[in-house]
Amino acid sequence: MVIRKRYIFITVEGGDGSGKTTQSRLLSEYLVRKGFDVLLTREPGGSVLAGNIRSIILDPKSDIVPLSELFLFEAARAQHIKKLIYPALEMGKVVVCDRFTDATVAYQGYGRKLDLKLINKLNSIASVGLKPILTLYLDVMPFDGLSRAKGLNGKSYGYGGDRIERKSIRFHEDVRKGYLEQAKKYSRRIKVVKTQETAEKTHILVKDIVDKVL
Ligand code: TYD
Repeated sequence: MVIRKRYIFITVEGGDGSGKTTQSRLLSEYLVRKGFDVLLTREPGGSVLAGNIRSIILDPKSDIVPLSELFLFEAARAQHIKKLIYPALEMGKVVVCDRFTDATVAYQGYGRKLDLKLINKLNSIASVGLKPILTLYLDVMPFDGLSRAKGLNGKSYGYGGDRIERKSIRFHEDVRKGYLEQAKKYSRRIKVVKTQETAEKTHILVKDIVDKVL
């Protein structure tokens, strides 16, 4: 696969409960209003196979070692890229993707401590070298995000949530560190958005960044 055309591929990243899904939707709606043909998708997802992989990965009953988890995310990504993202970009659509390769660096690299070189290599193979032109990283303190993700409103932290949300606060702090280090390293591509008290306020920050890039 050779990528020739100019494509607009935007990814939205963040810790669990950072509000990425809402921001991805608001951003897509904004781009549609601006006249773009938009595909909104998420990882792991975008195909029946990837959806099935997602269920396996997130099922708290699954006993998955970190390396298998990495391969499962990459398998879902390879399918997603080939079947959905790449064809949409070729058709001239703007693709907004809720999580992408940076999530693997942050979660499997900084969180699970797998080798970063291996992750970068697999990321590049699975995504056929396709890189986002812009990545919005929604930054939230892990405790606040997880409380929100689990519907606890900051009261307590403990059980509940999917297999990854159930990991310790320490794990999610490592994930956040991973995202922030990536943002520093690739500061032209990854923009840090501090999440605000409402989704609308965060969306205003997102729009400002996107308007500068498009
Ligand atoms: P999801 O329910 O989509 O969580 P969220 O709405 O917060 O994105 O579950 C996706 C989970 O998978 C999330 O905890 C992050 C994790 N993940 C990885 O660990 N590695 C990856 O490469 C990707 C794409 C996701």
